Amino acid sequence: MSDVLQTNPFFTGIQIPDEYFCDRQKETEDLIALVKNGNNVVLKAKRRIGKSSLIFHVFNHRAIKNDFNTLYVDIFGTKSLADFHLTLQNKLLSAPFAKSAKIRRDFEAVLRSLSFSFGEYNPVTGAISLPTIGTSPSQLPLLPMEDLFGFLENTAKPNLVVFDEFQQIQYYPERMAAILRSFTQKMNNTKFIFSGSSSHLLTVTFQMANQPFYKSAESYQLGELPEETYYQFCRRLFKAHGKEISEDAVQFLYELFSGETAPMQETMNRTFSIVGRGQKADIQIIKEAVNQLLTARDASFREILNRIERENVRNTLYCIAALGIADNLTSAPVIKRYKLNSASSVQKSLLSLQDENSPLIRKIAKGVYVLEDRLFELWIAREGNYLDYKYAAVHDRFVRQHALENPSFHPTAPLID
Ligand SMILES: Nc1ncnc2c1ncn2[C@@H]1O[C@H](COP(=O)(O)OP(=O)(O)OP(=O)(O)O)[C@@H](O)[C@H]1O
Ligand SMILES: [Mg+2]
Repeated sequence: MSDVLQTNPFFTGIQIPDEYFCDRQKETEDLIALVKNGNNVVLKAKRRIGKSSLIFHVFNHRAIKNDFNTLYVDIFGTKSLADFHLTLQNKLLSAPFAKSAKIRRDFEAVLRSLSFSFGEYNPVTGAISLPTIGTSPSQLPLLPMEDLFGFLENTAKPNLVVFDEFQQIQYYPERMAAILRSFTQKMNNTKFIFSGSSSHLLTVTFQMANQPFYKSAESYQLGELPEETYYQFCRRLFKAHGKEISEDAVQFLYELFSGETAPMQETMNRTFSIVGRGQKADIQIIKEAVNQLLTARDASFREILNRIERENVRNTLYCIAALGIADNLTSAPVIKRYKLNSASSVQKSLLSLQDENSPLIRKIAKGVYVLEDRLFELWIAREGNYLDYKYAAVHDRFVRQHALENPSFHPTAPLID
C-alpha cells in the first residue's frame, strides 16, 4: 500500500490509514450501528469536514469489512440519470465482489455481441476506461438499472453502498430521488449511505417533502473535530517523530480555519515537514506553512478571479474577504469603502457569488456572509497586504462565527404557580 511509504503522518487524501485518522470513534460506531440495524443513512456535513474519509474509515472497520461487500460511488460531476447509471454500473462491475459474478459475464457478452472496443473495458479488473475518439460514455451499453440493483439483492454477503456527493442529484433533469427510491425501498440485502454537504441536501429534502425518500433514511450530521481532540492527535503524531507542537499553535490553526478538517490537515502536513527533529512548532511556523499553502494555490485563486467578469462582483468578494464575517453589506459606508455602486448591485453580486455550482460565498445568518474557502480569504488578504491584520483577529472572528453558526435557543417556560 502506497500510504505506508508516506513518512508525513498528516494525510491529505481521502483514504487514511487508521493510526493517522483522527478520532471519529463515536461517529464510526454510530454509522455502523445504524447500518447493522437495517437503516439507510443520509450523512450530512459542511464541505471539507471529513465525510468521504469517514466513509472509508467505516469501510475499513472489521465490523463492516468482514460482514459486508462495500461499494463507494462518487457521483460528483454527474449531470443526469444516464451519468448516474453509468457511474454505478462502472463501479459495480469493477467491484471485487462482482469479479466472477454472472452480471460481469453477461456484460462482457453484451460487449462482445456489439463488437465493442475492449480498449474501453478491462475484462480483468472490470474497469471501464474513458472511450476512444468517436464514442462517448453514453454510448457504452447500459445494463438495466433493475439488473444492477437486482445483482446487489442476490449477493451472498449483504452490501453497503455509498453514494457520495449525493446533493448532485438535484441538478438532474430527472426526478432522481423518486427513481432511486423505487429501487432502494424494495431492497433487503443492501444498505445505502447518501452522503453530501448539508445545505444542498437540505434543499433537496425540502423540495421532496411530498416524497418519503428521506423518511426511509436516518439523517446523521457530522460536525467539526473538537479542538482538544485535534490537539491531542497532532501532539501524539509529532511526538512519535521526535518533534513537538505547542498548544497555542494548534489553537491558532483550529481557529484560523474554524475547525475545518481539510485545510487544518494540509497546514499540519506542511508544518510537520518544516520543523526538524527535536524542534517545536509554534504559531510562527503555522503561519509559514499557511504561506506555503497560499503560494501553492496561487494559480487556481487567480484563475477564479479571472473568471469573474463584473468588477462589482469582484469588489463584493474583496469586501467580504476583508470583513471576514460580512454584514451590513448594503450600508452606505460599506458601499463607499469597497466601491460597490449601489445596494441593488450588491444584491445582484451576492446572488452571483452564491452560484450553486461553485459558490464562492456562504450565507451564515440573515444578511451575513463569509467566503466559502478560508484559504481564498487568506490569499486575498495576502494580496491586499493585510494578512497580519487577519491573523490578529483570528480568535475574535472564530468566536463570533461559531456563535452565528450555532445559535442557542432559550424557550421561555410558562408561569407555573
Ligand atoms: N478524521 C480525520 N483524521 C485526519 N484527517 C482527516 C479526517 N477527516 C478528514 N480528514 C482530512 O480532511 C480532508 C477532507 O476530508 P474529506 O475529503 O473526507 O471531507 P469531505 O467532507 O468529504 O469534503 P468534501 O465536502 O470536499 O467532499 C481529507 O483530505 C483528509 O485528509
Ligand atoms: Mg467528500
